[in-house]
Amino acid sequence: MAHFTKATSVKDWFNQRLAIEKVEKVMGSEYWIPKNINFLWAMGMILAITFALLLVSGIFLLMYYQPNVNLAFDSVNYTIMKEVDFGWLWRHIHGVAASVVFLIIYIHMFTGIYYGSYKKGREMIWISGMLLFVTFSAEAFSGYMLPWGQMSYWAGMVITNLFSGGSLHADGLVEWIRGDYVPAQAFLNRFFMLHVLLIPLAILGLIGLHFASLRIPHVNNQDGEEIDFEAESKKYLAGDKAGSKVIRFANDFMSKDMMVVGVYLVFFFYLVFFNYDFAMDPVNFDPADGLKTPAHIYPEWYFLWSYEILRPFSVNIGLIAFAFAQVIFFALPFLDKSPNTIPASRRGLFKYWFWAMLIDMIVLTAMGKVPPSGVFSTIGFWAALTFIALWIALPFITKREKAV
Ligand code: HEM
Repeated sequence: MAHFTKATSVKDWFNQRLAIEKVEKVMGSEYWIPKNINFLWAMGMILAITFALLLVSGIFLLMYYQPNVNLAFDSVNYTIMKEVDFGWLWRHIHGVAASVVFLIIYIHMFTGIYYGSYKKGREMIWISGMLLFVTFSAEAFSGYMLPWGQMSYWAGMVITNLFSGGSLHADGLVEWIRGDYVPAQAFLNRFFMLHVLLIPLAILGLIGLHFASLRIPHVNNQDGEEIDFEAESKKYLAGDKAGSKVIRFANDFMSKDMMVVGVYLVFFFYLVFFNYDFAMDPVNFDPADGLKTPAHIYPEWYFLWSYEILRPFSVNIGLIAFAFAQVIFFALPFLDKSPNTIPASRRGLFKYWFWAMLIDMIVLTAMGKVPPSGVFSTIGFWAALTFIALWIALPFITKREKAV
């Protein structure tokens, strides 16, 4: 047993039992962050804060939500929105956060791609990040089912149908997932469980893994500089704060982060109070009706790019292309063969690859929203092909890149 002495303060009492001073050093005052990073490195903190907003608002919504096909719609649109004091506020916060979190995730991902932050020891950061992307997608989809409106029902129908595997006709699998022939009570119950328990638990664990995977390689920087964190932190601790290339995470870097977080929260609450309807589909304000298919079924904006990769092809090819789009980002650290961890602007052909991928995904998103006919269908088809071609080209163009 360790040696315990009479505590001299409350802090000392905890310190002897939980080593809080050591934890504080490892997580804060001696967690070293490069000086040369810009506001884009605040996106991770913004994501963590948005997730906290989702958790808190979700807990309040859970107090009045009814996971029953006859009651769910009214419990959201009547009880929470009209009867419960400030119910509307929690719903707006939850709805806006669910949409905005994807905007920030995409900015965070593309920052990582631009600066090559998935390379040389940072592969696990990328992989845990991608696992977070997938779990957030599952969380958003399962949450979309809960108000039991027309879009909940029909998006649930379309997405679960994908599991029939086209001409494989795995209809048994689809029924097994739904717990019925069509989305009904069993379906709502299991998606409710996934949304409020299993997926949030997985997200919490993955955030832990994501943070842990950052600890050894440290965060990257905007100049692609290889920083010797040990030497630079020694310099800092010896008093040469100006000469050192690193600063402490807490409270130095945190205060910089919080400035960006503050600007973000102004934008966030502007949306919550004045523009919340952008995050809510009008069709979902009609109760679910299995006998009335909406004229045009589409997912929320953040899924449109991958939906548009599914749509322009025949069923089987579409499913393969869709599956490809879901998993290919995981492979990025292994498909990028270049030894350089530097910004894309200094990386030969990769510079064009980066911008082509970004623009292509924006085009796919725009085309996913409009009905698949005429010129839109042609643009969607070529954009989907471009997406696949860019991924196939990646190892070849990066292999030829000169080491900088
Ligand atoms: C959704 C929850 C997520 C949270 C809470 C989160 C949080 C963070 C935090 C706090 C950092 C360090 C500071 C920063 O660079 O912003 C970070 C870094 C990073 N994250 Fe995430 N992240 C999330 C999702 C993702 C996703 C979806 C990806 C992409 C696949 C990703 C990839 C990365 C990468 C590559 C870094 C390293 C950046 C660097 O070294 O410069 N993260 N994340």
